[in-house]
Amino acid sequence: MWLSKKIIFLQTLLCFFLVGISCKRLTEHKFVVKEAHYRRLCSKKPILTVNGHFPGPTIRVHHGQTIYVNVHNKGKSNITLHWHGVKQPRNPWSDGPEYITQCPIKPGGKFRQKLIFSCEEGTLWWHAHSDWARATVHGPIFIYPKKGESYPFPKPHAEVPIVLGEWWKSQVKDVYEEFLRTGGTPNTSDAITINGQPGDLFPCSKSETFKLNVHHGKTYFLRIVNAAMNIIFFFSVSKHNLTVVGADGGYTKPLIRDYIVISPGQTVDVLLHANQKPNHYYMAARAYSSVFGLPFNNATTTARIHYKRNHAPTNSPPLPYFPDYNDTNAVLDYYVSLKGLTETYPHEVPKHITTHILTTLSINTLPCRKDQTCAGPNGTRLTSTMNNISFNAPSIDILEAYYYHINGVFDRGFPRFPPLKFDYTAEYLPLDLEIPKKGTKVAVIKYGSTMEMVFQGTNLVTGIDHPIHVHGFSIFAVGYGLGNFDKEKDPISYNLYDPPLINTILVPKNGWAAIRFHALNPGMLHGKIPLFS
Ligand SMILES: *[C@@H]1O[C@H](CO)[C@@H](O)[C@H](O)[C@H]1NC(C)=O
Ligand SMILES: *[C@@H]1O[C@H](CO)[C@@H](O)[C@H](O)[C@H]1NC(C)=O
Ligand SMILES: *[C@@H]1O[C@H](CO)[C@@H](O)[C@H](O)[C@H]1NC(C)=O
Ligand SMILES: *[C@@H]1O[C@H](CO)[C@@H](O)[C@H](O)[C@H]1NC(C)=O
Ligand SMILES: *[C@@H]1O[C@H](CO)[C@@H](O)[C@H](O)[C@H]1NC(C)=O
Ligand SMILES: *[C@@H]1O[C@H](CO)[C@@H](O)[C@H](O)[C@H]1NC(C)=O
Ligand SMILES: *[C@@H]1O[C@H](CO)[C@@H](O)[C@H](O)[C@H]1NC(C)=O
Repeated sequence: MWLSKKIIFLQTLLCFFLVGISCKRLTEHKFVVKEAHYRRLCSKKPILTVNGHFPGPTIRVHHGQTIYVNVHNKGKSNITLHWHGVKQPRNPWSDGPEYITQCPIKPGGKFRQKLIFSCEEGTLWWHAHSDWARATVHGPIFIYPKKGESYPFPKPHAEVPIVLGEWWKSQVKDVYEEFLRTGGTPNTSDAITINGQPGDLFPCSKSETFKLNVHHGKTYFLRIVNAAMNIIFFFSVSKHNLTVVGADGGYTKPLIRDYIVISPGQTVDVLLHANQKPNHYYMAARAYSSVFGLPFNNATTTARIHYKRNHAPTNSPPLPYFPDYNDTNAVLDYYVSLKGLTETYPHEVPKHITTHILTTLSINTLPCRKDQTCAGPNGTRLTSTMNNISFNAPSIDILEAYYYHINGVFDRGFPRFPPLKFDYTAEYLPLDLEIPKKGTKVAVIKYGSTMEMVFQGTNLVTGIDHPIHVHGFSIFAVGYGLGNFDKEKDPISYNLYDPPLINTILVPKNGWAAIRFHALNPGMLHGKIPLFS
């Protein structure tokens, strides 16, 4: 302990003297997890935060830099923190998901996490990775190009974090516990927020609405994070186009749109050209929700854009254009149009695949325990599965069990293909298919494999859009489609030339998505179905 502190101190000193300017960015951060009182929607309540802020602090680093975050849990519950999209080469120990790569940090406990930024560039984010603490414990990560290097687009005038979140009037912990207890769907949130504020359309919010002051003719770099628990957003700015230049910590070919789509866990880098008549404009976000009858938060959150110049601002600026709440085509069209910036790829899209995995993503039902009443369909308890396995959290983390050969913690038999072939997206499916198996199953992959994973949504209980996040890797999003994946026909239409390199992919309702990557980072990769996990 003493020695390692001394080495770090020496390293800091050395780097200061030898490299000079490259040490200017902070390499040690202190993150204190604690409760703070926040007022929203006309009332005040304590929420869990980092350093008392909501959203939490922004981490700013350069491409290739390594930093340390000293996490101190001064809250009342176990917690872990995850650095979403940071690949952490050969350093899975600091990744953060509880019971996957570490045991939780207990109240009063501390954990020093090492963050190795390798080839990421753009925007990522960090968040709690235990229960639903992530709803309020999160913040952005800005990754600048290496010193002396520049963006693959003209330098913007200013950089602006735009963190989209959800706000419950109740304690998030209570919402989560009620959801676990009843086995139904979690209560929808009471507000959607931009940088912690619900905006002008909500009560008691006007004075604190987030405002961005712009100069006519200048360009602003919006680093947008979707930190919501369950909402896929449409985001747009009235009367302005958005130029997408990056996603999930990697650059994309510039894509000009009047709206973007951002799923929970994703980040999008957007250039906003302040080229309209000086006035006040709204930027806004609202939900995409494709399941008829499933309750969702249909509110619109707003922030203001003020042009600096003498003008008489319109009192109530118009809201921007949005596709319909259920416009699946608008979502798919956006995602399919997003292309990687090939020149900045660290390595090529794998062409010869050594390991194929096809996994279903389903909503399932479990029988209610005898002494309970459950709020799932027909009195059942909702759960979710990959290849019909509902994940059971182990008693210690899987990474440790694997590394130290501790038996009985997990089993290696995660099926590489659906154990039962059926018409996954049929309108009506036999009810007995809904009941899953439970397990802690792992697919062990050989180092150096070239992987293709196809995620197949099913219509069990109900088809739903599933955002899937992969830890430890960026993945090439090579294909999307509706209906059942056809392994003969669908790969023909893959984009193997310039797919975007992302870390969170949206699998469309009753459809599929295909990813490819090189398995070159030993550790624990895990996927998560955010809604009914
Ligand atoms: C908190 O985490 C510790 C391990 O770090 C574990 O032993 C304990 O059961 C956890 N407590 C709860 C309430 O989950
Ligand atoms: C969830 O919503 C129901 C119905 O509106 C309400 O009775 C319940 O108190 C809510 N639960 C929480 C934790 O807010
Ligand atoms: C947005 O882009 C479209 C297509 O490039 C163009 O036709 C339109 O005029 C642009 N709108 C604004 C407000 O710049
Ligand atoms: C949002 O949903 C509520 C019911 O939950 C409904 O009364 C309202 O009209 C909806 N608003 C919009 C804009 O669709
Ligand atoms: C979207 O919802 C509207 C009704 O709210 C319905 O008329 C329309 O068919 C739906 N569109 C799709 C693509 O499901
Ligand atoms: C999942 O496994 C259970 C138990 O073996 C079985 O009854 C059910 O039909 C399976 N469902 C699917 C979709 O494979
Ligand atoms: C609930 O039960 C009814 C009658 O058996 C059935 O038609 C329906 O599909 C069931 N719903 C689910 C989600 O299991």
